[in-house]
Amino acid sequence: MKYIKLALAMVCVVLFIGCAGDTQSNIALDEDDIGLRNTPLTSEDVRLKDFAYISTPAGEGKVVDRSFENAPPMISHDVTGMMDITKDFNACISCHAPENAAAINIISVPASHTYDTFNDKKIDGIADSRYNCTLCHSPQANIAPIVGNTFKPDFRNESDKRKSNLLDILDEGVN
Ligand code: HEC
Ligand code: HEC
Repeated sequence: MKYIKLALAMVCVVLFIGCAGDTQSNIALDEDDIGLRNTPLTSEDVRLKDFAYISTPAGEGKVVDRSFENAPPMISHDVTGMMDITKDFNACISCHAPENAAAINIISVPASHTYDTFNDKKIDGIADSRYNCTLCHSPQANIAPIVGNTFKPDFRNESDKRKSNLLDILDEGVN
């Protein structure tokens, strides 16, 4: 009886180790298999695919549909010569600040960009938090996404595909 118990215990131990080993080999991934860049994670040798940003000058660009309601719109024109944005240089404002945009009849920054949301008041000029435009708006390149996306946005109004109103609806569902 003693030997049978011992034998059973040993079988259990062997099974347990076997299973544990199995689970680990299922979960563990080699560092070469992680990520989308086809080089090991620890390698510095990262090569980007060849791509070119769109070169259509501002004024001739074709605006891109918004990704979802009140998503930051993508930049529809060339930004050559406009980067980097610094404290003393921001070409975006020279066209998109409200008064400049009105003068040349182009789309202005929305109300949310000239508003101090912490103190809940309108401010003169662009809010500091919105000064670095390319933090949220990016120029586009003709390149296929590495990972496909089947997300379909649901716009409440047709006009929301081309226009934003974040400041007006910011408190929706809160008040
Ligand atoms: C010379 C004027 C000019 C400058 C400078 C400029 N833009 Fe534009 N921008 C335009 C015009 C005109 C459009 C309308 C569509 C087009 O021509 O691309 C536009 C479109 C856009 C759009 C798309 C708006 C929409 O409704 O989809 C974004 C976002 C944008 N610009 C951001 C920027 C940023 C960020 C910078 C600075 C890096 C910048 N722009 C510099 C004139 C300008
Ligand atoms: C912190 C992120 C962020 C920064 C920085 C930012 N934007 Fe935006 N922008 C947004 C978002 C989000 C929207 C859409 C929602 C809204 O605010 O109304 C938007 C909307 C816009 C629109 C579309 C306006 C409309 O009526 O549809 C323009 C043009 C624009 N931004 C230009 C700029 C420019 C130029 C700068 C730099 C001076 C800038 N943005 C900085 C996030 C940002």
